[in-house]
Amino acid sequence: MLLHIENVLSAEQVAHCRQRLERAAWADGRITAGHQSARAKHNEQLPESDPLAQKLGALVLEALGRHPTFFAGALPRRIYPPLFNRYAGGQSFGFHVDNAIRYDRTRGEAQPVRTDLSATLFLSAPEEYDGGELVIEDSYGEHGVKLPAGDLVLYPGTSLHRVEPVTRGARVASFFWIQSFVRSETQRRTLFELDLAIQQLTRKLPDAAELVALTGVYHNLLREWSDV
Ligand code: NI
Repeated sequence: MLLHIENVLSAEQVAHCRQRLERAAWADGRITAGHQSARAKHNEQLPESDPLAQKLGALVLEALGRHPTFFAGALPRRIYPPLFNRYAGGQSFGFHVDNAIRYDRTRGEAQPVRTDLSATLFLSAPEEYDGGELVIEDSYGEHGVKLPAGDLVLYPGTSLHRVEPVTRGARVASFFWIQSFVRSETQRRTLFELDLAIQQLTRKLPDAAELVALTGVYHNLLREWSDV
């Protein structure tokens, strides 16, 4: 499931990030790439240890924490601290699958994060650059994703994906990974669809007694399927 989540950051928050990132100390993006993907990766990235990355990453995490659709779609257990990248001047990232496990070292001891989901939060508006689509391959084919600034795409960590060359302007984004309470993509999708249907039904028939039963089913499935 590809999930487009709108307005994760407000226009003001996007402008703040962009302004801070203009003077950032960008480094070669291969610093976080695995052995195989390093060969395909051509972009710039803020080192994880850069205080600016940590500050803006905290802003992104705080915004995610307030976003109900992100919670419902990802059921996040752990979120890898958001990173920031930039593509310009023909830079691209060829087809690859992200590493299955990443180690979050921000709190001293290395904390493993299984990358059940990958996320890209767009910080450049689509009209600012040409190319730069995030192309995600799933069993239905290839999907090109290029979203408004402040919007996010969530996609399964198992997907092959690439970033098309940026042929004009610059594409700035934040990206990160999520370990979900629910490891299975199928189960996560089922819970998300049930959650949405319950919310829609609540708006239509707020007094329906069946809502209590359906909400119970949701939580009982989540209890059955989650690992903590
Ligand atoms: Ni990737």
